[in-house]
Amino acid sequence: MQQIVNSLQPVKESLVNAWEAAWDRGQVDALDEIFHADFRRISKKSKNVTTIRELKQEILSVREAFPDLVTKIDHLLVDEQEQSIAIFWHTTGTFTNDLQGVPATGNTVETRGSNLMEVQDGKIISEQVTWDQSELLEDVGVPSLKSAFESTDDGVVVDDLSGVPNLDALKGFNRQFITGVTVVTTMDEHGKPRGLAANSYVSVSLEPPLVLVCVQKTTSTYASLFKSTHLGINIMSNGQRDTVGTFASKGDDKFAELEWHQGPNGSPLIDGSAASIEAEIKERFQAKTHTVFIAKVKHSEVAQLEPMVYKAGRFYDGAELTAL
Ligand SMILES: Cc1cc2nc3c(=O)[nH]c(=O)nc-3n(C[C@H](O)[C@H](O)[C@H](O)COP(=O)(O)O)c2cc1C
Repeated sequence: MQQIVNSLQPVKESLVNAWEAAWDRGQVDALDEIFHADFRRISKKSKNVTTIRELKQEILSVREAFPDLVTKIDHLLVDEQEQSIAIFWHTTGTFTNDLQGVPATGNTVETRGSNLMEVQDGKIISEQVTWDQSELLEDVGVPSLKSAFESTDDGVVVDDLSGVPNLDALKGFNRQFITGVTVVTTMDEHGKPRGLAANSYVSVSLEPPLVLVCVQKTTSTYASLFKSTHLGINIMSNGQRDTVGTFASKGDDKFAELEWHQGPNGSPLIDGSAASIEAEIKERFQAKTHTVFIAKVKHSEVAQLEPMVYKAGRFYDGAELTAL
């Protein structure tokens, strides 16, 4: 009987071994055994091209965030004719340490993908993957606003038609936009109230009752906010100038001098505010330096107090406005 020689069989076996060593045990140098020196990994979604060195770094950073990561290969298909191997896999791990500025949640996360690998001279020369780290962030519950990650020199026009971005012009534009001021609050995991001043509040829709705030990732409130299920939004009244100052600065206990109470789900609501809501956080979009939180209002309180007005870095009494 004639024996069929399966030329990709040894590649397949060493691939499975190297894959498990790298992804499940962090032994990334095992990949050198199976990858061609010119290996390139192409993400079908983002079109990112990765070298072996970059792939190793990516594996290590994912393993740092998910130390108990375990990968399961669901299907492995070999095409002798095309000299290619397709892998369908899924992996589970506990989100233990921060990943790309996203605070760890302690949740178990499952992510899945498929890779199509081309073999040349017994080594994998290239692979196309359906997965990349933005996918992982999505599985973690943090989809990314893709446009926020685009390079900035791609024709942003903010001042004239020259096509040259001008930050001052953009700042000038923002200064012409009058807003109120809010204090966005939450309870951290130790039951401590936290908060920051924010004028990025926007009402998204009434039905469903959705609101939005953007929070910079470098703020000390950010990590607690990210991990919370609920947040509070307090619209500052004209008597809360000092409160705004407190929440626009750093401080260990910004609530020490304040009267405040908790909403039905525990979020700190500040007494003396023009209005306060408590909302359940529904979405957290990554926008590079900021995270956009979209939340569903569950509770609201409105006081008979005039709101504070914010324009171009200054605060005004909302009771003193002249109708046009
Ligand atoms: C009027 C005003 C509006 C602000 N809006 C925002 C905002 O929308 N998002 C944000 O992340 N920071 C905003 N800030 C800045 C934060 O309040 C500030 O960085 C604060 O010190 C953060 O505190 P934390 O690091 O203790 O959380 C604003 C500040 C002021 C004065």
